[in-house]
Amino acid sequence: MVNILTYEEISIMKSIGGIASAILRQLKRVIMPGESTKNIELFFNRYLEKYPGIISAFLGYNGYPASICVSINEEIIHGIPKKDKFIKQGDIVSVDLGLKYKGLFVDCAYTYPVGRISSEAKKLIRVCWQALKEGIKRARVGFRIGDIGFAIQNYVEKNGFSVIRKFVGHGIGKALHCYPEVPNFGRRGEGELLTEGMVIAIEPMISYGSSDVVILDDGWTAKTRDDSLSCHFEHTVAITSRGPWVITR
Ligand code: MF3
Ligand code: CO
Repeated sequence: MVNILTYEEISIMKSIGGIASAILRQLKRVIMPGESTKNIELFFNRYLEKYPGIISAFLGYNGYPASICVSINEEIIHGIPKKDKFIKQGDIVSVDLGLKYKGLFVDCAYTYPVGRISSEAKKLIRVCWQALKEGIKRARVGFRIGDIGFAIQNYVEKNGFSVIRKFVGHGIGKALHCYPEVPNFGRRGEGELLTEGMVIAIEPMISYGSSDVVILDDGWTAKTRDDSLSCHFEHTVAITSRGPWVITR
């Protein structure tokens, strides 16, 4: 079933979404050369202590062992923070975080450049960010899931990059992952019709090279098979009569 939320529920999600986006902004302070990925998680945990009742949506989800995901360079998503994994100058680091409050969820991700990065990495980040915006533009009453996927795929491929197909966006609200799936590829006019009150997480994952994925021995970290750079951005977006409402802005 499609998950439809009330205005009151979406307003609560918007208030948590504001905190999620503030955290992503603050994380820049610890996404620095020499910092461990565990330290990024600790910063997140400490930040959340200020907001009793708001918890990580990821910790323990399907057995996931940490409160956020930190994925570096060829890692696409689901990187587990580690004490002995360090960020270095020139990396691109993506952080994915989900929050839960009063039974409602929000989900967002951002990819950060660390110091000076290659022009290839810059272009990958720029294209992935714009692809997310292209998707959000189609998050409107009367459009379909396939319109979003098509817009993202078309933009990414036009710029010479690949869309990762193994992972997709999703409905979100009373659970982290709800119906429908929101693929980053598709055909115009196909898939679920978007109606008022639906909330979806749109999350393009793209790579510089092949779209093939391998999962590391930790059982979680997904990386590109050819070790090409990968990027991920995500927003939670509500479908309203007034157009897309970006909950995690
Ligand atoms: N944001 C991720 C997604 O929607 C969820 C991470 S699941 C976890 O794909 F298990 F890593 F927490
Ligand atoms: Co998500």
